[in-house]
Amino acid sequence: MAYSEAQVIAGGLIHIPIVIGLFRHIESQIGRKSIAKPAKTPPSTKATTASAPASSKAAPSKKVHADVPVNTYRPKTPFEGKVLENYSLLKDGAIGRVNHITFSLSGGNPQLRYVEGQSIGIIPAGEDSKGKPHKLRLYSIASTRHGDNFSGDTVSLCVRQLQYEKDGQTIDGVCSTYLCNIKPGEKVKITGPVGKEMLLPEDEDANIIMLATGTGIAPMRAYLRRMFEPTERKKNNWNFKGKAWLFMGAPKTANLLYDADFEYYKKQFPDNLRYTKAISREQKNAKGGRMYIQDKVLEHADEIFSLIEDPKTHIYLCGLKGMEPGIDEAMTKAAASKGINWAELRPKLKKQDRWHVETY
Ligand code: FAD
Ligand code: A2P
Repeated sequence: MAYSEAQVIAGGLIHIPIVIGLFRHIESQIGRKSIAKPAKTPPSTKATTASAPASSKAAPSKKVHADVPVNTYRPKTPFEGKVLENYSLLKDGAIGRVNHITFSLSGGNPQLRYVEGQSIGIIPAGEDSKGKPHKLRLYSIASTRHGDNFSGDTVSLCVRQLQYEKDGQTIDGVCSTYLCNIKPGEKVKITGPVGKEMLLPEDEDANIIMLATGTGIAPMRAYLRRMFEPTERKKNNWNFKGKAWLFMGAPKTANLLYDADFEYYKKQFPDNLRYTKAISREQKNAKGGRMYIQDKVLEHADEIFSLIEDPKTHIYLCGLKGMEPGIDEAMTKAAASKGINWAELRPKLKKQDRWHVETY
């Protein structure tokens, strides 16, 4: 190639980025409106029904839940909610400490609203070992959007105090201890709400299978109140007609959370609610070991999989992270006994927004 020719080509090449840049600039000016990214929606504060597909066959996308409020309050500007009540959920002889704590959300501008299945963040008072403000911890909301007193401006949590032994010392979890000790009248920094994983479908005739261990009962308590609490039903314009089945795992009978409420709902709605308890340190599984909810899942494999065949059935799993492999193993065995491959079915259920997991 002649020198002059090469120069011309090189010169041309040098101009390519300039031409591309110019083209992009023109495109961005002319086409801004038509190709602009969708504007960021400001955090909605309107709590509406967590929607599900009109047809149970259609997989509801995240868009379906677009009107569910998120991040109304962020860590830099949290809402300060007053503690209304804080009481133990445990009976004599129970292990550990688990409290039900309610905060007032009144006076918020904007008002913090949420729907069943979401979580809020709590920023404990004080500083960490480096002298920095504590980071927030998430807690599943245990109340319905109407709150325990149905006024629509409270939120409740179900908190287990974290305690463990290290080098011969008992270590108390920072935020869970702060919450379990907090007194009515004190103010707490609250963020959120967050989370769209655990929302209920809108269908009144959906079937809801709930697998909870310990404080994993929090979102389930909100669902069950929404479904069966008389005043809540009057308020929410949502008359649950499907089948709800709660599997609850607790170490002792005295550790069962909200048990009397669930028993009452079961009595009132015997055709709509089943309640199966796995009391790990009082009952034995088929192998003689501790009874976990996955053992109960196996016991009821046939009925569970008959329900799953119905496209209106949703499964919610909440609580200890450690239960996930056990549940997976039980579902694999249970599915196999019906000639179903769980490893193939689970992602399908997930895609259809019918398999919901929140473990920690
Ligand atoms: P921290 O002071 O933060 O201590 C926790 C740390 O201690 C761990 O990170 C680990 O490093 C260490 N640690 C813990 N156990 C041991 C051990 N056995 N040995 C050695 N080290 C250990 N909790 C509830 O009680 N109720 C709820 O409804 C709830 N919902 C949640 C929802 C979501 C989405 C998530 C993510 C978490 C939820 N949690 C819930 C857990 C909660 O967020 C906190 O993690 C929990 O309360 C502990 O926080 P803490 O500040 O008390 O403990
Ligand atoms: P256990 O502690 O007897 O082993 P809590 O949060 O109140 O302690 O309740 C958690 C419940 O979940 C307990 O009954 C606990 O049993 C049980 N559990 C512990 N590990 C698992 C696991 N891997 N799978 C299912 N359940 C579990």
